[in-house]
Amino acid sequence: MQTVRELEVLRNSIAALRESGGSIALVPTMGALHEGHLTLMRRAKEAAEHVVASIFVNPRQFGAGEDLDAYPRQLQRDSELLEAEGVALLWAPMPDEVYPQGYATNISVAGVSEGLCGGDRPGHFDGVATVVCKLFNQVTPDMAFFGEKDWQQLAVIRRMTRDLDLTRPHVDAVHGVPIVREDDGLAMSSRNAYLSAEQRAQAASLPKAMRDAIAVIAGGGSADRPLGNLREVLQVSGFDSVDYAEVRDADSLERLEADNGNARLFVAARIGGTRLIDNMPINR
Ligand code: PAJ
Repeated sequence: MQTVRELEVLRNSIAALRESGGSIALVPTMGALHEGHLTLMRRAKEAAEHVVASIFVNPRQFGAGEDLDAYPRQLQRDSELLEAEGVALLWAPMPDEVYPQGYATNISVAGVSEGLCGGDRPGHFDGVATVVCKLFNQVTPDMAFFGEKDWQQLAVIRRMTRDLDLTRPHVDAVHGVPIVREDDGLAMSSRNAYLSAEQRAQAASLPKAMRDAIAVIAGGGSADRPLGNLREVLQVSGFDSVDYAEVRDADSLERLEADNGNARLFVAARIGGTRLIDNMPINR
């Protein structure tokens, strides 16, 4: 696996991969890799000849007071994991390489960026859309892979890709991969590393409370009461606060009062200083 940290070198390496034939899949990450990320690499490897992974802790998607400085950075370990997955190229640019002096352009996707994490983290999805657009233009992949763990992010990237004609071919070049979970149901996340042993045990009540709420919501009627119960259960289980617990249409992300046959439950909740997110379909 080749590790590249400069744009000029990247362009030459991508040209060499193209010359060797076959398609290129990009898997963007912020590092601190776990099984969730590695599953994306495997899906990419099944679909394309060459997998390019990127690791870049993108400052523009972190708000003031968020965990940009604390975010785990472990490039050596990550590159060994990627190498073992058969990744051809690791693109790990320095911040100056992505946002040089005078950088002034922002990409903002209306609609799907609003509410949920977009409401709690103003500017977050502008930062995500901007860096993913840049990564697409830098790597010029045929396709890209993202996790359903960040369902709203996936919706933002799909919208941007269509709106700006970004990857090729245009139809379904952005692939979503189902959430990879720990044995107790907690969605894998680089941020789980912030949890103490006690908080980690308490965190498992998030997916459990979501499944309980879904069982009720799927039975019909207003989602109000099961969502209220879910908030209570989380607070009793040791969560400090619930940022949101909402039912939305899986595609448009429009807010719903009850299941419409294409609904998902979205939750963000805090335990200590750590913010955890999860989402699940209502109909199973
Ligand atoms: P990061 O949080 O590192 O996640 C990289 C990719 O891994 C994302 O597509 C995310 O949805 C996916 N992922 C994370 N945990 C997962 C899990 N448990 N199951 C399945 N997929 C999972 O998301 C980002 O980075 C950034 O916002 C990025 C897209 C790289 C832009 O900076």
